[in-house]
Amino acid sequence: MTTLAALGGPAVGAFNPPPWPQASQATLDALRDVVRSGRWSLSGAWQDGPSAEARFAAAFARFTGVPHCVPTTNGTSALVIALEALDVGPGDEVIIPGLTWVANATTVRAVAATPVMADIDPATLCLSPAAVEAAITPRTRAIVAVHLYSSVADLDAILAIGARHNVPVIEDCAQAHGAAWRGRRVGSWGAAGTFSMQQTKLLTAGEGGAVVCSDDLLHDRLYQLRSDGRRSKACPARGEMELVMDSSITGTNYCLSELGAAVLGEQLTLLAEQNHHRARTADSVDKLLFSAEGVEPIQTPLQVTGRTYYYYTLRIHPDAFGGAHAATVCRALAAETGIPFQPTYPPLYRHPLYQPSTKRRYAMPEAVSDGPPGGLPEVERAYREVITFHHSVLLAEGDALSHLPKAIDKVQCAPAELRQLEAEGIDFTNPL
Ligand SMILES: Cc1ncc(COP(=O)(O)O)c(C=O)c1O
Repeated sequence: MTTLAALGGPAVGAFNPPPWPQASQATLDALRDVVRSGRWSLSGAWQDGPSAEARFAAAFARFTGVPHCVPTTNGTSALVIALEALDVGPGDEVIIPGLTWVANATTVRAVAATPVMADIDPATLCLSPAAVEAAITPRTRAIVAVHLYSSVADLDAILAIGARHNVPVIEDCAQAHGAAWRGRRVGSWGAAGTFSMQQTKLLTAGEGGAVVCSDDLLHDRLYQLRSDGRRSKACPARGEMELVMDSSITGTNYCLSELGAAVLGEQLTLLAEQNHHRARTADSVDKLLFSAEGVEPIQTPLQVTGRTYYYYTLRIHPDAFGGAHAATVCRALAAETGIPFQPTYPPLYRHPLYQPSTKRRYAMPEAVSDGPPGGLPEVERAYREVITFHHSVLLAEGDALSHLPKAIDKVQCAPAELRQLEAEGIDFTNPL
């Protein structure tokens, strides 16, 4: 075998990921229409008809299969208003997975509650129902089930635990637009479903977010919480403000701009076909890797009737790679293939971006990490073993990835070179 490409040897193959996001003429036209309309924000005056924001909200609610959607500035503000609308506050505990983006912990802190990090199910990388059950206390006020990398958390079991303890479940669908569990889209199962439409996501306007729900009263609260407490006036006249004062609730301005809403409205029309394409390519990668030694794709449970892919995820067997960390294997595979492999998130309780004691308003002693003293075993194992690549790779045709098995073989045959790479340090850079 030749030298690893990461150490200057020849690469097994090359790959150019298709661009992401993908602009369309309709997206450009919709943006131009908003710019010309004079209404750039929900808080601008009513023009000739419903705002782009209201039109996107209706379309996304329909897409998810729920009556209501409240668009927001991003997925972080969507989580904050979902927690606020469910009345989570000081003294409360919120169960979150220990493997996820940092926003799941910071948003709980933002409403002055305490995040309780629970272990994951190694089969799905999402919250383990048994770990949720064990983490419930009389102070538990919500469970946030994150559908990580579009893998769907065990909704049947987690909703049953929530119902038994009278604790609402928020589905964080930031990474799972369009995924379905037993025939219904994610976001429609919990008390509320939150989404991010940030640049890397399956549906994006660069930034953006949304909360979906079925309950009318919860929807009214969410609406006001993200528009400084204002509510929408029925049938405003041209030139009149649609958002009107209301003193029933204190909110924050988390409104999605009309420009973002127009982009999302058009991008949504592309999502089903893009999800289909990604699933087709992922199937061919599954087949390519079926007989590969030392790696296993993360499996899809039978209840997942609509599989989407925010990232394609694989577990490596470290012994097959000379004990190397997933981050080192990613570096070696990326150099061999041109596919931008990335390791999964560091455990949330030692994520470099989660430093709650640095905010005075949390009033915390230093070195609080919210994790259990010994760490969470499956979260720790995932960090050592899970490797991923972004969904834009799956927008290529399946045969563009046919060099992957050969690259995996080559990297496994070079344990000494992997050790040399590892000695250069592990790159903690993570996607959202
Ligand atoms: C699981 C999860 N929740 C919440 C967020 C926050 O979304 P945003 O970046 O749009 O604020 C993200 C990330 O980007 C995410 O991946």
